Amino acid sequence: MSGTSGFETIWWQSGTVYQVYPRSFQDTDGDGVGDLPGITARLDYLAWLGVDAVWISPFYRSPMADFGYDVADYCDVDPLFGTLADFDALIAEAHRRKLKVILDFVPNHSSIEHPWFAESRASRESPKRDWYIWRDAAPDGGLPNNWLSNFGGPAWTRDEATGQYYYHAFLPEQPDLNWRNPDVRAAMHDVLRFWLERGVDGFRVDVIWHLIKDEGFRDNPENADFEAHQAGINRFQQVYSCDRPEVLDVIAGMRAVLRAYGERVLIGEIYLPIERLVAYYGPGLTGADLPFNFQLIQTPWRADAVAALVEEYEAALPQGGWPNWVLGNHDQPRIAARIGEAQARIAAMLLLTLRGTPTLYYGDEIGLGRVPVPPERAQDPWGRNEPGHGRDPARTPMQWEDAPHAGFSTGTPWLPQSADAARRNVDEMRDDSRSILTLYRRLLALRRDHPALSVGDYRGMQLPPDLAGDVLAFERIAEGETLRILLNFGSAERNLALEDGSAWTVLLSTHAGRSGETAQRNICLEPDEGFILGALSV
Ligand code: NOJ
Repeated sequence: MSGTSGFETIWWQSGTVYQVYPRSFQDTDGDGVGDLPGITARLDYLAWLGVDAVWISPFYRSPMADFGYDVADYCDVDPLFGTLADFDALIAEAHRRKLKVILDFVPNHSSIEHPWFAESRASRESPKRDWYIWRDAAPDGGLPNNWLSNFGGPAWTRDEATGQYYYHAFLPEQPDLNWRNPDVRAAMHDVLRFWLERGVDGFRVDVIWHLIKDEGFRDNPENADFEAHQAGINRFQQVYSCDRPEVLDVIAGMRAVLRAYGERVLIGEIYLPIERLVAYYGPGLTGADLPFNFQLIQTPWRADAVAALVEEYEAALPQGGWPNWVLGNHDQPRIAARIGEAQARIAAMLLLTLRGTPTLYYGDEIGLGRVPVPPERAQDPWGRNEPGHGRDPARTPMQWEDAPHAGFSTGTPWLPQSADAARRNVDEMRDDSRSILTLYRRLLALRRDHPALSVGDYRGMQLPPDLAGDVLAFERIAEGETLRILLNFGSAERNLALEDGSAWTVLLSTHAGRSGETAQRNICLEPDEGFILGALSV
């Protein structure tokens, strides 16, 4: 059994996070792109849904080469999204509803248009030269090393002005900052303080495992398992361009800034296997509070594979390290697109019953799938560089009601919406007891009402081999309460013996109309059905 029962939990442990991609949540000025006043206007919805915190993807000043992940001013709002006053109103209104606000901090790279980069590139003698990563050509006149951009092509671009190359892990418009330079650290700590002073409750730190690169800029080794269909970057193992040990020091520095402001949260975006991921809690938990755990996105959708994953993750967590789970985000195919609508309900129940902080991605609660984006409307620069990698289908505007553009905007939305938007929208689904939106809301309510779900211990249950491939079973246990979760990942009915003979009641099923049923010896899961069972008090 794994857990921490008995210890005091804090909001980012017991609560749930909801990610808003601001371009796609709610537009208030008719330009087809969402904005901060739009998010404020929808806070009542988030409170109604029952989440605790909203993480907002970047809204800073930006030329939008990577839709805001290329920041030209870390301390201002891009006019496309509104003003600082709009942000202040948003945070005040969120706090009034007891919702926390988490910002997306993008410290690995700035925009090529950031004044720091303009100064840095101006001359080799510039006082800010060392704020970015400049290298000479290799002795043979080639690129400084073999590092590749995550968005295709080399990670080095030659700058005519000074004849050196600068490093960019993403687009050439996103030069990497040099976090080995103490002035960069100090400037970035000031950015954190700027937003903390405005009341933000934490940060999700973009590509946190990239912040420090190998001091000697050694070539990355070839990847023996590379398959041609993979993105170009996978040709090499990214062992020197990221995940360097010194990065933990940088993270501890950021976290220390946050701690001066009380219980704020530091979430790190990290795509690494479990054994490396958990290192980001840092020595003595001085690292990220929540190193994002993307394993559910990467694991085959089978009950036995997920059971093994949960065991492995729980066992790998350091003492006191708090777990977390994610089903999707703005960089990944949507969960309903990956596993289908019926299983998306199982995924919702899994996400909200596992031990650890769940992060929901906007639109998953209405079961949005892969929204087709015709080539002439494609937006994502990655998809343009490397066809097949476009992230647009998972970033389409939220669907609120049966109205033009589903109530998202009075203008033409920057990306299309789903063909079934007249039905698949919040307004149509909120009072429908069978909708996935109702399921999400009930799950969130149960999680609030039952400490066993939010902070209880986790105990995996062994099932007979004929069931284990399809059914995932576990318990969540808090003082005085044990809940049992049964999830059918398969499309056949499954009968389960309830072993100990105690009586259970269905607190919630993924299927409408079964709550309140009771069971003693056996229980029958319909195809694609999940249960949260509570002990029946007699
Ligand atoms: C990760 C972000 O989530 C993604 O959207 C972005 O393109 C890259 N980092 C670069 O900032």
